[in-house]
Parts: sequence; C-alpha cells; structure tokens
Amino acid sequence: MNVLVTGGTGYIGSHTCVELINAGHKPIVLDNLCNSNVESLNRVYTITGEKVPFIQGDVCDEKLLHEIFSRHAIDCVIHFAGLKAVGESVAKPLEYYQNNLGSTMSLCRVMRAHNVKKIIFSSSATVYSGDNEMPLRETSKTGNCTNPYGWTKYMCEQILRDIAKADPEWSVVLLRYFNPVGAHKSGLIGEHPNGIPNNLMPYISQTAIGKRDHLSVFGDDYDTPDGTGVRDYIHVVDLARGHVAAAGYMMSHKGEAVFNLGTGHGYSVLDMVHAFEEANGVKVPYEIAPRRPGDLATCYADPTKSREVLGWEAEFDQVDMCRDTWNWQSKNPNGYDD
Ligand code: NAD
Ligand code: UFG
Repeated sequence: MNVLVTGGTGYIGSHTCVELINAGHKPIVLDNLCNSNVESLNRVYTITGEKVPFIQGDVCDEKLLHEIFSRHAIDCVIHFAGLKAVGESVAKPLEYYQNNLGSTMSLCRVMRAHNVKKIIFSSSATVYSGDNEMPLRETSKTGNCTNPYGWTKYMCEQILRDIAKADPEWSVVLLRYFNPVGAHKSGLIGEHPNGIPNNLMPYISQTAIGKRDHLSVFGDDYDTPDGTGVRDYIHVVDLARGHVAAAGYMMSHKGEAVFNLGTGHGYSVLDMVHAFEEANGVKVPYEIAPRRPGDLATCYADPTKSREVLGWEAEFDQVDMCRDTWNWQSKNPNGYDD
C-alpha cells in the first residue's frame, strides 16, 4: 500500500515509517518540520534501506495536498501531524484549534476529491473523561477535556466520525494512544522534545544524562500504591505496529472504529524511575514536588478490543522501554542535532 504519513518525520511517525516498510508498504511523508527534523528519515533509510519520499509543507495547504494526491497513487492516510504540547495549548488555543482541526478538515476535503477514503487518526487517551472507572474501554465516557489540546483530539474524532456517517465509503480508524515511550532498538530514531520536556520519560533520560539536575515527581499523595501518578506506558515500536494492523483492518472494513493502543498495565512515576535506574545502571535524582494541575491519579487502557479485532497487542515490556529510551538518549544527547 502507498500510505501518506502526515507528521511522518516526528517521533511516532518516523517509527511508523519503519514498521510500514517492514510490512512491505510504501510511506510518503508530508511534514512542515515545525516540531521535527528531516534527519529522522535519513535514519529510517539507514534502518530499512528504503528511501521515504518527503514533501516539506503544511497539511493545511490544500493546493499542495492536491498535487501530492495527483502525483502519488495514495491508498490510505495516517494523520499524525498536529501540535501536542498540553501547556502550550492553554496559552495558544487559536493556534492549536487552527492547526489540528484545520489540517484534518483540509486533508479530508482533498482525500474526498481524489476518492481516497481511508484514514487513521492519532487520537489520545486524553479524550476520556476524568471520572471513568479504570481500565478505560473504547466505550468509556469521553469529553470534559482539561485543555485545548485534548479538545482538538475530541473534536477531530467527532469530525471524522461524522464524515464516515455521511458517506459509507469512508473507513475511519481512531487510535487512542496511552503514553508512548522508548525508541527503535538501533538507537537511531527517538524522541527529542524542544526545550524542557513536559513528559516523564524524556525528563528521566535527560536527568540521567546530566542535562537536568533532578526530576520533579508531581505529587506523592495520590490514591495509588506509592502515591505517585500511574500511567499506561507503551513502547513506540508497539504503537507503530498498531498502525500497520489498523491499515490492514481498513482494507476490509468501512465505517468508523476506535481502538485503544495501550498495554493494559499501569506503572507509577517511581516505578518508572526505579526501572530506568535498574535497566541502565544509572542514577535518576528526584524530588517530590506539588501535584501538576489537570493530572489524574491513574490512567490505563483495556486493550482487549485491539487484540480481538486488530490482532494487535503490545510485546515490549517496561525494561525494553527503559533500555531503548536510554540507548537513544545516550547515543544522541542532542537529538538529531548530533
Ligand atoms: P511530533 O511532534 O514528534 O510529531 C508531529 C509532527 O507533525 C511533527 O513532525 C510536526 O512537525 C508535524 N506537524 C504539526 N503540524 C503540522 C502541519 N500543520 N503540517 C505538517 N506537519 C505538521 O509528535 P508525536 O509524539 O509523534 O505525535 C504524533 C501524533 O500523535 C500527534 O497528533 C499527537 O497529538 C498524537 N499523540 C501523541 C502522544 C504522545 O504522547 N507523543 C499521545 C497521544 C497522541
Ligand atoms: N510526571 C512527573 N514529573 C515530570 C513529568 C511527569 O512526575 O516531570 C508525572 C505526571 O504527573 C504523570 C506521569 O508522570 O503522573 C506521566 O506524565 P506525562 O506528562 O508523561 O504524561 P500524561 O499522562 O500527563 O500525558 C500524556 C501526553 C498527553 C496526553 C495524555 C493522555 O503527554 O499529550 O498522556 O494520553 F494527552
């Protein structure tokens, strides 16, 4: 299959290109590089021996999209492109709504014009309402998002669902990611956030390498086994393979479907710190800090539907996640700038 991968130079997109190629598909990447480096695709080439066609541009640019769909015989689209920093979305709501909703609507309009009606969308566990029982199922309550980023995911899901409802030829797969971590085992591609990391794993690995002097653990008085927040961390290669499984599913299914991509296991912040230290023989100094506003105590998936319907399940464990994060971090202390 020829797969247009928007946001394909980014963290999850680059890993998905590798897994698409491994499965015999041909990714074509469109990215404006606002949060990534095209060097990631050179590394994909080193890993796979395949050159991924790259177009630098914005998914909101419909003229460019028409050119891409005219030039390449695209079978389906994986839409990763989007802005994803929760805190920044609170400060810049207009930019987030414009980019994340605008790109999704432009993409779908052009897809329709070229009769390409298969799309996988990067959604997030953040669309689930905070008052659900754990584990979260695809049928759990959504909404009550705590920030504009979360609302953009919620609204894009709704837009795509309505498109599938209006035209039965569409196949829409909404993938709700839990907490992606880790890197390809080669250490050639991985996550390199700009500035101070917001997320736990990059913060742990930057602390271990000495870029940050300590990790702040946001709260130790939650109702969890050790008082720190519990999340469902999933290895990015497992996540990438979930997209390959979803692409296969779309070939024989029309309409809209939603799947959790998580492991079903919850680990606390301190579990992750200790696992990282043990797996890599490094120290991660930490201090207990106040809770971070908007955080939940616990969030983990029920991945049963993905296993039963997509035939996909996570294979990598916590040790793999910690080892591969450190392998990438220690080989590329400054990300792709090295
Ligand atoms: P990322 O920032 O590494 O990748 C996103 C890519 O999209 C970047 O390369 C960026 O340059 C590009 N982009 C953004 N807006 C664009 C536009 N208008 N046109 C063209 N390119 C554009 O992020 P990621 O972690 O790889 O996330 C991929 C997707 O998964 C995002 O939609 C994100 O919201 C979603 N997601 C991520 C997480 C996570 O924790 N990483 C969790 C849930 C959902
Ligand atoms: N944490 C710390 N210190 C840090 C960073 C995080 O203690 O420096 C804690 C958080 O309080 C939380 C856990 O580590 O308990 C995980 O936090 P992350 O920021 O890594 O992840 P979140 O679960 O808060 O958010 C992630 C994505 C969001 C997405 C959400 C739900 O970053 O984009 O999962 O899918 F919306």
